[in-house]
Amino acid sequence: MWRNTHRRWGAVSIVFHWLSAFTVIGLFALGWWMTGLGYYDSWYNFGPWIHRSIGILLLMATAARVLWRLLQPTPVGEGSRLEKLAAHLGHIALYMILLLVLGSGYLISTANGRGISVFGWFDVPALVHGLPNQASIAGDIHWYSALALVILAAGHALAAFKHHWVDKHDTLIRMINPWYRLKQR
Ligand code: HEM
Ligand code: HEM
Repeated sequence: MWRNTHRRWGAVSIVFHWLSAFTVIGLFALGWWMTGLGYYDSWYNFGPWIHRSIGILLLMATAARVLWRLLQPTPVGEGSRLEKLAAHLGHIALYMILLLVLGSGYLISTANGRGISVFGWFDVPALVHGLPNQASIAGDIHWYSALALVILAAGHALAAFKHHWVDKHDTLIRMINPWYRLKQR
């Protein structure tokens, strides 16, 4: 039940998925809101500090998730051949864009050569800094890739609901409950 099989997601993949999904949505909302704050707002420094800290934790969790994903079988998709192909390409795109958002966020934060303090618990060093216009180019990439990520994730969630309510597949249930008794196929 911890590991995936060819028919179901294990508990580890399920926890990674939902933690990541809620964190992405939360970071998007926080990022959007905090960049509109004025200098004298009490959240002006605190908001970005929380955003960067949670972002780095998500970056580490995503690295672990991708590793776990590569070491596991994955359940086969449901639906027509076209739907399966679209789902597969969509999931790869979600991972790639997620990594782009995380990487560009890191590059904005380390552009000035200072490391990132994660809730004051530990520091992540600035490995890449001083590239020409690093903060503004990474900032543009961060914004557009974050926007692309939430739009793609919304389409992805709609597809999951279509499988659940229209096609009556157990794709959504198996991403929620690792003990669920799957329908015979
Ligand atoms: C999936 C994860 C993330 C999402 C969805 C996200 C989303 C956003 C959004 C929507 C903004 C506002 C951009 C704008 O209005 O220009 C933003 C800003 C920012 N993010 Fe993220 N972010 C994520 C991860 C990270 C990470 C990992 C870091 C750094 C460690 C980071 C650092 C920043 C910084 C420094 C800003 C402010 C940029 C500025 O002032 O122009 N973000 N983020
Ligand atoms: C309400 C929101 C969401 C719902 C209902 C949902 C539902 C699902 C379901 C049912 C699957 C399993 C598909 C299958 O078994 O073939 C899945 C996989 C996946 N989801 Fe979501 N999801 C949501 C949000 C997100 C978000 C925000 C992200 C962005 C990071 C995301 C990224 C992924 C990825 C990358 C996979 C593929 C997993 C893999 O193949 O390793 N999901 N999702």
